[in-house]
Amino acid sequence: MSNTESAHGMWSSKLMFILAAAGSAVGLGNIWRFPYLAGENGGGVFVLAYLVCIFLIGVPILAAEILLGRAGRQSPINSMRNLARQSGTSSFWQLIGWMGALAGFMILSFYAVIAGWAMSYIVEMASGNFVGTDANRASQVFGEFTADAVSVVGWHTLFMALTIYIAARGVGRGLETTVRYLMPALFVLLLMLVFYSALATGHFKEGLMFLFSPDLDAFSTDSLLVAMGQAFFTLSLGMGAIMAYGAYMPKDTSIIGTATTIALLDTSVALLSGMIIFPLVFANGLQPSEGPGLMFITLPIAFGQMPGGQIFGALFFVLVSFAAITSSISLMEPAVAWVVEKLAVTRAKGAVLVGIIAWFVGLGSAFSFNIGADFTLLSGMTFFDTMDYLSNNILLPLGGMLIAIFAGWFLKDQIVEDELAGDKAWSNLWRVITRFVAPTGVMVVFVMTFL
Ligand code: TRP
Repeated sequence: MSNTESAHGMWSSKLMFILAAAGSAVGLGNIWRFPYLAGENGGGVFVLAYLVCIFLIGVPILAAEILLGRAGRQSPINSMRNLARQSGTSSFWQLIGWMGALAGFMILSFYAVIAGWAMSYIVEMASGNFVGTDANRASQVFGEFTADAVSVVGWHTLFMALTIYIAARGVGRGLETTVRYLMPALFVLLLMLVFYSALATGHFKEGLMFLFSPDLDAFSTDSLLVAMGQAFFTLSLGMGAIMAYGAYMPKDTSIIGTATTIALLDTSVALLSGMIIFPLVFANGLQPSEGPGLMFITLPIAFGQMPGGQIFGALFFVLVSFAAITSSISLMEPAVAWVVEKLAVTRAKGAVLVGIIAWFVGLGSAFSFNIGADFTLLSGMTFFDTMDYLSNNILLPLGGMLIAIFAGWFLKDQIVEDELAGDKAWSNLWRVITRFVAPTGVMVVFVMTFL
């Protein structure tokens, strides 16, 4: 009784599914988060741990999400409800869908704020504001900008409006059209900037060494925890975004093969971003361990010193903004699809409704750097930090673990066989990993996070 089409629309080809899912995966996680985490966690060691997590645990769970989505063909909440019913198991598993929608709002709340900063930096860069800047001035500009509630909310609102507009146009005309143009553009920009870093900085080798030579002494269990969390975040796992996209995937494409392709694309972008950022950092005598400010403080200094930095710096933030928007539309999709199913409203109404709620929650994150900086939720963390912490360290791993357990142990065999018909060679390995390796791995990390 598996459906061949989703009522929400379908990707027009396998390639379009790959672009959409890669668009979801490639985002601030790759360009902003990955380099600063690598910088803080000893470079090569972190990169190695991250790669192991991506390919050992990430790809199988990614495949599980696509599988569940394609078998259900509805919003994650309703797909999970129907699949649990068809498998003769408890309706408890719907929880995966509900938790996912919640996590989506939480992630979007801080994601849209940072994406807004990135958009404002296109203008800052292009206007030449950072030409010849030094470290003091770059942090001052960043500090002043984030302290200005009105402009932060302005950019945040613009970013959310774009996200809503794309989501409102629907799967084919909105999401697919966006990824069809932005993803190739993103790869071109990325390669241009890698060449720029390789040719103009004179420190390309040093950047590569930092990323690719693991210094085993720097290895700690902590790097492993961070690497695992990052693997989930960067692959958009654990909240149903990929499940929602999987619902629109054509029937005759291989799931495990596609999941592997998506992970390879995502990983390449993360590594290429590191290859853009670290040579710039070393060429300017800056610190790789700068933290979240790496992209917004060190890069403007670096571009400010470089020939052509005004243009390439602006292009860099165009790249970041493109990457962010193809991710934010996927963060909204589970909730939008559910609203359309539940309230029987048009896609446009659903997108506006979900978008306005997400925008409103996002105000909390936007104000965390200015008028709301003293407002704390969880143990002294700002609203922004609380959203980041709860979603990345709790909801995503928990969601991922439940997805693996459901797909590995509870989903009806017939459904698994149907969906993995094109993946014969790998389906046994996938089974073993979703049943044993992934849940245990996540559980270990999960427990360690709290110890
Ligand atoms: N993967 C995206 C990034 O790296 C962010 C993202 C989009 C995401 N959808 C998600 C993260 C779902 C977790 C869950 O920027």
